[in-house]
Amino acid sequence: MKKLLAVLLATVMTMSLLTACGSSKTAETTKETEAAGTTEAAEKTEEATETTEAAVSEALSDGVLTVGTNAEFPPFEYVDDNGEPDGFDIALIKAVGEKLGVTVEVENMEFASLISSIGSKIDVAIAGMTVTDERKESVDFSDSYYEAVQYVILPEGSEIATADDLKNKAIGVQLGTTGDFIASDIEGATVSRYNKAVDAVNDLINGRVECVIIDKNPALVFEGKFEGQITAVDGAQFDFEPEQYAIAMPKGDAALVEQVNKALEEIKADGTFDELVKTYIEAE
Ligand code: ARG
Repeated sequence: MKKLLAVLLATVMTMSLLTACGSSKTAETTKETEAAGTTEAAEKTEEATETTEAAVSEALSDGVLTVGTNAEFPPFEYVDDNGEPDGFDIALIKAVGEKLGVTVEVENMEFASLISSIGSKIDVAIAGMTVTDERKESVDFSDSYYEAVQYVILPEGSEIATADDLKNKAIGVQLGTTGDFIASDIEGATVSRYNKAVDAVNDLINGRVECVIIDKNPALVFEGKFEGQITAVDGAQFDFEPEQYAIAMPKGDAALVEQVNKALEEIKADGTFDELVKTYIEAE
């Protein structure tokens, strides 16, 4: 049923496009559809008509993309002086929304609730979220838009320097993050899990934990914020693997994944992406 509707819509929209701008590519596929009248031809029309895919993505059907984030993760997301979520991810998803022709509404929530809220409370999540096999069982991811790695934040003067040194330590992490997963696998470690990353850093400064495992860029932001008290060390020194950030979407909404990836590609090609990196990440 949905397919039929999509094909119908594709044809209608192609025809109105044809009247509006007379694009030769569109004209060709329309002729094909009329002549052959086959599903195959109709599918080609669907591919050729940018606006059509919106009609088949349930998440976009109301013209609003509801985006979940956890604004406790600078420079990717934080709450600005007006109390609104801002940051690299927020700017990126707004640029994506613009490309898709939908309004973006941002919901700030706990990081650990994001995945389970996709498809109900929110349409998608952008939260410096690392692609993992486990998460892929519940959601689909866009193409990756950023490479990161976990860092280890240490109090000034700490002797922790290798993977071995992390054993049997008190480690602070943000609940449900890849830092949490790594810490939980360290032999003998006592892991304290916080909803807000900054609370983990505060407990590090207070001496309640001996290190904090968190993504590179937030680690560097915290290092700057608590200058002289903490040092952020590259996780490569602890044998941590690189991670890829991507936008999480409802499982099975192939049209949405395709459109979001296309938007990301355009945002990279037209220089918007580099601008956002400069504004939000390199400015730190
Ligand atoms: N990259 C890590 C992960 O996916 C941490 C992300 C935390 N993001 C946030 N907005 N709090 O688990």
